[in-house]
Amino acid sequence: MKAYRGALLRFNEQQQAVYDNDGLLVVGPDAQGRTVVRAVGDHGSLIDRFAGVAVEDLRGCLIAPGFVDLHVHYPQTDVIGSPADGLLPWLENYTFPHESRFADKVYARGVADFFFDELTRHGVTTALTFSTSHPASVDAAFEAARERGLRFITGKCLQDRHSPDGVRDQTEQSLIDTESLIRRWHGVDRLGYAITPRFAPSCTDAQLRGAGELAAKYPDVWIQSHVAENRDEVRWVAELYPSARSYLSVYGDFGLLRERALYAHCIWFDEQDRALMARTGSAAAISPTSNLFLGSGFFDYAAADAAGMKYGLASDVGGGTSLSPFHTMLAAYYVGREGLSKPGISLAPGRLWWQHTTGAAAALGLEGVVGNLQPGCEADFVVLDPQATPLLARRTQQAASLDELLFAFIVLGDDRAVRRTVIAGQVQP
Ligand code: GUN
Ligand code: ZN
Repeated sequence: MKAYRGALLRFNEQQQAVYDNDGLLVVGPDAQGRTVVRAVGDHGSLIDRFAGVAVEDLRGCLIAPGFVDLHVHYPQTDVIGSPADGLLPWLENYTFPHESRFADKVYARGVADFFFDELTRHGVTTALTFSTSHPASVDAAFEAARERGLRFITGKCLQDRHSPDGVRDQTEQSLIDTESLIRRWHGVDRLGYAITPRFAPSCTDAQLRGAGELAAKYPDVWIQSHVAENRDEVRWVAELYPSARSYLSVYGDFGLLRERALYAHCIWFDEQDRALMARTGSAAAISPTSNLFLGSGFFDYAAADAAGMKYGLASDVGGGTSLSPFHTMLAAYYVGREGLSKPGISLAPGRLWWQHTTGAAAALGLEGVVGNLQPGCEADFVVLDPQATPLLARRTQQAASLDELLFAFIVLGDDRAVRRTVIAGQVQP
């Protein structure tokens, strides 16, 4: 066992932030040999119970749950910052040509190593990630994540139409590949598989039907896709599926809405779409830096809450502009103020932080497993330095409340504030 003393942040069952100014986090093996949180709370009340345990002194820093990124494309690491008029030209001109390189496993592994180093350097310890349509890109990512001990989920993109040579796959083979990747990787160490139809316009009916059949056959596998991101895309789906009630209902019609189904964006929804998300237990991966960068629109928090939809935050790199959870939370704050149905929502900092940790884990069906520092959670955490930059130091010194402290990190923080990332009890280099 090992213990860490410092300021501590975690979340209670009411989704509220709990803060110990002088806290103690004790980690150690559970009955299955996983490294988990054994105890957490006020240092003074806990320390006698752990008299023989080595305590590292991190006073002056904030120990917080590792961040959970609900939607990111590791193969788009080198696509960040590619400007375009909107989603569809961005895909055609930058993203698809770049992704064609991931047929080469050695190339894919090089990008995966860089991506995971960056992700952990930014304090992200769990990610639901797209690979490309090439099975080799999935193997490369899983192998790199496994070496790092990460809890990590990815899948092979399904895209058998409206995709150029080099990334377009073949219907039957794509489903065979998906099932063999599920069998090879799902549940190995901390890895999980996600059935990954890229988006409805890139998949034939036969491919979506096959994806839905696999989802029914493997109910604890994840599903990930994109929906209702951009108005041109929504119009295109209406042309392709004239009898569908909405873009989202296309996925429902093929059995792709259920618990553990994560849909990026969810912007151009109506009330029936939101009710369908809530009823099926599907969750939204809100991607605010991407939505601002590509001019896609603003996620409507008030309407999502009214419908009882699950959601959490995501970087959506390379449409998104940063892997930093602080940048994503700040962008979500801006977006929350633009809500379509009820303008002017001001998201509290604890709420934003929850959406990128405990709330994101709940959206994945991994509550109590990652995204929090309650007893039994896997020991993935970050050590944040409130003095990382002169301005952050100055602002955090004057913080008069937890909200002010968290807001200072959200507004002024970046990778410099992440002094250390710990995965399953192991400090990342
Ligand atoms: N829709 C289909 N593919 C993509 C993608 O790679 N990024 C985003 N943002 N939207 C998509
Ligand atoms: Zn995406």
